[in-house]
Amino acid sequence: PQSRKYLIAGNWKMNKTASDGVDLINGIINEVGDQNEVGVAVCPPYTALESAAEVLSNVNNIQLGAQNMHFEPEGAYTGEISATMLRTLYVNFVILGHSERREYFSECDDLVNRKVLAALESNLKPILCVGETLEQREDGDTLSVVSKQVDGGLKDVAADKADQVVIAYEPVWAIGTGKTATPEMAQEVHASIRKILVDRFDETIAQKIRIIYGGSMKPANADELLAQKDIDGGLIGGASLEAKSFGKLVASA
Ligand code: G3P
Repeated sequence: PQSRKYLIAGNWKMNKTASDGVDLINGIINEVGDQNEVGVAVCPPYTALESAAEVLSNVNNIQLGAQNMHFEPEGAYTGEISATMLRTLYVNFVILGHSERREYFSECDDLVNRKVLAALESNLKPILCVGETLEQREDGDTLSVVSKQVDGGLKDVAADKADQVVIAYEPVWAIGTGKTATPEMAQEVHASIRKILVDRFDETIAQKIRIIYGGSMKPANADELLAQKDIDGGLIGGASLEAKSFGKLVASA
């Protein structure tokens, strides 16, 4: 990953009120210090974004991300939030197509793709999540499932914007379960995602796109995962809710 800047991003999911979020971010600022070699992002729920943006307004080595968005810029979409709205809160990243959204909110590749395009249009960096279920892995379908999700999510993405995209490989069976893919298992999938990117764009662009791993990543297993050639960081759930463990993951990277 030498040429790519690692990214350690915390996905808080549906956790933390605005004021709890401020406390957590202050703790993270403290842990992360002034290092600038590793990209760091926190992705609080919508209700905590504004206060998070305020705390981060004079911090330049921690960026803000959202966990979802709608693909339309505005309109009659009750309960939804647009890319434009996120941009006004100084949001840089947006997690799209997380497996929890695919599973509980029926998000399909086509919808995720519309969101990816809308995010890029608004200069938000999409963190496109892909990954197989346990059943799919046991059936030997991991690579076909993941390539369908990568190709589906990136449809019509222009080559000159491709390096703005981050891909997160999150095997569904490893999310919140304490089970992690072995470094070899993860590397195998990351390498095949890189290959898809070469075919889709070209070698130079594929080498610029960060492919990060998610699924029970924690200080105890991060070093080995992050040492893999095509693993360029992590998308962290549980271990991002505590400043110390999140800080350790940044240090590992
Ligand atoms: O997006 C991060 C994620 O789904 C992994 O969650 O709790 O297994 O680190 P966790």
